[in-house]
Amino acid sequence: MSTIQFPKDFLWGAATSAYQVEGNNYNSDWWEWEKSAGVKDLSGLACNHYERYEEDFDLIRSLGHNCHRLSVEWSRVEPEDGVFSQKEIEHYIKVVTALKERGIEPIVTLHHFTNPLWFSKLGGWENQDASRCFLSYAERIVSALSGSVRYWVIINEPEVYLYYSYIIGIWPPQEKSPRKAKTVFDNLAKAHIAAYRLIHDIYKKSGLASPFVGTAQHIRSFTLRVNNLRNRAAAAIRDRIFNRMFLNTLIRAHALDYIGLNYYTRDIVDAQSWNINSLLYDIYEENARNIKKNDLGWDIYPEGLFTSLMSLKKYRLPVFILENGICTQNDDERWRFILSHLKKVHAAMDSGVKVIGYIYWSLMDNFEWADGFAPCFGLIEVDYRTMKRTIRESAKKYSIVCKTGILDG
Ligand code: BGC
Repeated sequence: MSTIQFPKDFLWGAATSAYQVEGNNYNSDWWEWEKSAGVKDLSGLACNHYERYEEDFDLIRSLGHNCHRLSVEWSRVEPEDGVFSQKEIEHYIKVVTALKERGIEPIVTLHHFTNPLWFSKLGGWENQDASRCFLSYAERIVSALSGSVRYWVIINEPEVYLYYSYIIGIWPPQEKSPRKAKTVFDNLAKAHIAAYRLIHDIYKKSGLASPFVGTAQHIRSFTLRVNNLRNRAAAAIRDRIFNRMFLNTLIRAHALDYIGLNYYTRDIVDAQSWNINSLLYDIYEENARNIKKNDLGWDIYPEGLFTSLMSLKKYRLPVFILENGICTQNDDERWRFILSHLKKVHAAMDSGVKVIGYIYWSLMDNFEWADGFAPCFGLIEVDYRTMKRTIRESAKKYSIVCKTGILDG
């Protein structure tokens, strides 16, 4: 048993995204796709967080979180091209105000996978005008929320979005085209860089303290089944494309105040040949392996959080862990996951990485995209029939860490 102390000003919290929890997001490309694609569950009312946010924020306060990550649903705020809904903008003002009133720092994401339907009909992120469309939305939201928000995340996990939506095509718009993926990559990067500058300009013009603007970079750990030249080359290529390409583009453009890190799992690289598809995708998937997995079959590998954090040290920017979590029906397992990962966070801090906060994914069970409502990532359990919230034991244990900054275990 050891005791670990985190810094006094460390940010502790949990995350959600609008589409996964709010409910009734019917103007989005995801809703259109869900209806036609035969998905496991329709998102529908989700957790009805849109109406219950105050009750949910009371729970967050009782758990001692000092920050909360949420996203704004673009399709609500701008239901038609160039037409903004003042009512929905005011909703988000009320949301961030409700957090501030409870002493909780809002961390706001502008784009978390979903797009307005009108935007996707114009070609979505393939359209050369995509960045301009996004900026006009970003300007409205940032201007409206700037008085209460200091931490911004512009785009959540660009590589994950690209991979699922444009490479393997299992998310809308279901493309399998590296060429289109490249166009979308460029447009997302362009949008991020322009939005970064825009956000800083808005704060400057309003005489507000400088904001912290970042990204949520998903980093996957790539370990080798056998340490040979081919696997090492494959791991290096995957790391470069999946973990670094977007990040390096933003670093080169000086468009980050901090690096947001989302970390969940690793892949065991097992390239069967020098063929490009083998180098990019072959993994070792032996179910008999003596490795703990979450309910979606992802390896639980805390060491990967340590190595991911260490790999970010060279950028000399603060690192904010914006997502780390487990879906499981076994809540003891959830606590063990949090504990083991927090130990790695602290070890990386001891080794010189400036980590400013840790956000667990997710505050509550929610709509896990194409996997529907079955995976339970939440610190809080949601009964989707009654919408009743129940705080899990793991949340209570995490709450002690949030309140004291001390980890015993
Ligand atoms: C995403 C979340 C998602 C979580 C678990 C992250 O990649 O940002 O929206 O629910 O992983 O799959």
